[in-house]
Amino acid sequence: MNIEVRYYSRGGNTKKIALAIAKAVGVEAKTVSEPLTEDVDILFLGSAPYAFDVDDEVKKFISGIGVSVGKAVNFSTSAAVKSTRKYIEKLFAEKKIPVADDEFSCRGAFAMLHKDRPNENDQKAAAEFAKKIIS
Ligand SMILES: Cc1cc2nc3c(=O)[nH]c(=O)nc-3n(C[C@H](O)[C@H](O)[C@H](O)COP(=O)(O)O)c2cc1C
Repeated sequence: MNIEVRYYSRGGNTKKIALAIAKAVGVEAKTVSEPLTEDVDILFLGSAPYAFDVDDEVKKFISGIGVSVGKAVNFSTSAAVKSTRKYIEKLFAEKKIPVADDEFSCRGAFAMLHKDRPNENDQKAAAEFAKKIIS
């Protein structure tokens, strides 16, 4: 099974979750600046909202997918919204790539909010989530 982990992280919060997920599934976490070069069974894609949307880099990555992807699995960190799913699912739909109903999201530190998140528990939960997805 070919598994890939891609993420975009300005402040390091989403990167922490990406690293936990990648370790759990035994692959390297790469940023969205690295396009997919081979067909993928499961793509874990991590992002965060900035002013009610994901960064253009994330959109460019999805729009630029030129390989077959069995399913995408969203993960995100945020200060307030539930997840970034609503910002990315249309782009995946255009690519006819299904997005798994299951996703991982947790709070990420922002200004005075959610200090120290994601914490160790968040990272453990992300790892458990990823293992369940690939089992
Ligand atoms: C400029 C800016 C805008 C943000 N806008 C939102 C937002 O619209 N909704 C939200 O839930 N969180 C928002 N946040 C919080 C981030 O999504 C949160 O801190 C996230 O964990 C950042 O992930 P990163 O460290 O991987 O970049 C914003 C943060 C910044 C810096």
